[in-house]
Amino acid sequence: MAAALKVSFTGFAHPRGVLVVFCEDNLKLGPATQRALSSLGDLFRRAAAADRFTGKSGSSLDLVAPSGLNLPRLVIVGIGKQNELKPRDIVRLGGIALGKAPAAAATVTIFAEFGSGALKADQVADLALGARLRGYRFDLYKTKRKDDDERPNKIELHFACANTAAAEKAWAQNEAIADGIVLARDLVNEPANVLYPGEFARRTSALTKLGVGVEVLDVAAMKKLGMGALLGVGQGSAHESKLVIMRWNGGKRGADPVAFIGKGVCFDTGGISIKPAQGMEDMKGDMAGAACVVGLMHALAARKAKLNAVGAIGLVENMPDGKAQRPGDIVKTMSGQTIEIINTDAEGRLVLADVLHYVNKRFKPKFMVNLATLTGAIIVALGHEYAGMFCNDDKLADRLSKAGEATGERVWRMPLGPEYDKMIDSKFADMKNTGGRWGGAIAAAQLLQRFVGKTPWAHLDIAGTGMDSPQTDINKSWASGWGVRLLDRLVEDHYER
Ligand code: BES
Ligand code: MN
Ligand code: ZN
Repeated sequence: MAAALKVSFTGFAHPRGVLVVFCEDNLKLGPATQRALSSLGDLFRRAAAADRFTGKSGSSLDLVAPSGLNLPRLVIVGIGKQNELKPRDIVRLGGIALGKAPAAAATVTIFAEFGSGALKADQVADLALGARLRGYRFDLYKTKRKDDDERPNKIELHFACANTAAAEKAWAQNEAIADGIVLARDLVNEPANVLYPGEFARRTSALTKLGVGVEVLDVAAMKKLGMGALLGVGQGSAHESKLVIMRWNGGKRGADPVAFIGKGVCFDTGGISIKPAQGMEDMKGDMAGAACVVGLMHALAARKAKLNAVGAIGLVENMPDGKAQRPGDIVKTMSGQTIEIINTDAEGRLVLADVLHYVNKRFKPKFMVNLATLTGAIIVALGHEYAGMFCNDDKLADRLSKAGEATGERVWRMPLGPEYDKMIDSKFADMKNTGGRWGGAIAAAQLLQRFVGKTPWAHLDIAGTGMDSPQTDINKSWASGWGVRLLDRLVEDHYER
């Protein structure tokens, strides 16, 4: 778990601990920063000249115990030109600022000011969000500290800003989102012996404390509903499959909800079509879609979002076993459509087929967005920078793309169409669960589309972004919590009254 990071907001007058300030090109400092550094005399300019530091983006200058300033360390972080910063860069700068403080620092003050002056309250809160995410660690299972590890158990993080009350108010919103992301990361990082479907459902039930309604359907309930595709995937596991429905009603009474659906394969061995050993341990993260949905529902409830939202996650474990499903088996979905199993490793789409249909039928949502670590093929296509987006509605696609640019959780639209849909026609059933060799991410999306009817829907293939994605300024953990910010932004911009 993360070292407890305590965020607070203060004025610029009395910085404590390591002081981190921002500097624009040509050593341009804001007024409060200039005042704080005035006791240094010309030390700052001499040090900058000696280090050829000019305030370029990505550079920094580090002064240890600078004379004249009664602080252990001063770090000056270059940001280039303020007018070239995108809003999402402010979050990133918060991560960079915390990252520049030495690991051993227990108290850090970050000046929320650029060259032209103090940041607005929501920008201060964005800095704090970045720092909080950067500070996340998952070391629940490390029982020994290395000798050279001087990291404190608690970090006090102060943001010096112009209006502390306004910053605190803005932070309450961002803190809700940060908590949702941290929850998602924790779930993805947990190993599958700890986080199996039943335990995942139990942890999700904690959302009731925030006013989220949580229903857990067991195997018997899903049998009654006819969810043969989801149940087929889980039938080889010693752990019972679960379907969890979360409901947040912060909008008008009776208004149609928006819906988020997550793939929650707690471990994916591939089943009878078993995966190679190399890297299989990563398949504990095959529930990153479900983790994102839980993190998002947490964020929406914690910030009391003014809309009605449904979250639904299909939780299973895909194991080889005497009871496991075989290639060639034919399963009947809740929708009535049948699927021939060609490859038991193409299991995520089977789980989602039933959950998408169920949510669509029961809730008649305004739109559905599903998230899934669905295919290796999407990593081949897009690497780890963009998630693949498949969408039957241009407006929804456009809104998702824009929310992606705004948050940095970017999506790249991929094609759907009847030519691709043919790939999954089957000799024996209504469809088969894999296409041919090519366009694997698209074939998977075509299968999902057969279960969403006419409802506006987007499928985000997050195999490349949800886990094992590159380390960034705001994430040093294996799990990213990808999608929580994206979808929180989507609903905030378009669906809250
Ligand atoms: N969970 C995997 C996809 C995956 C791969 C996620 C790598 C993250 C990293 C999925 O269930 C799967 O096994 N997909 C197969 C589909 C194939 C059998 C048609 C794949 O992508 O190889
Ligand atoms: Mn698989
Ligand atoms: Zn999988």
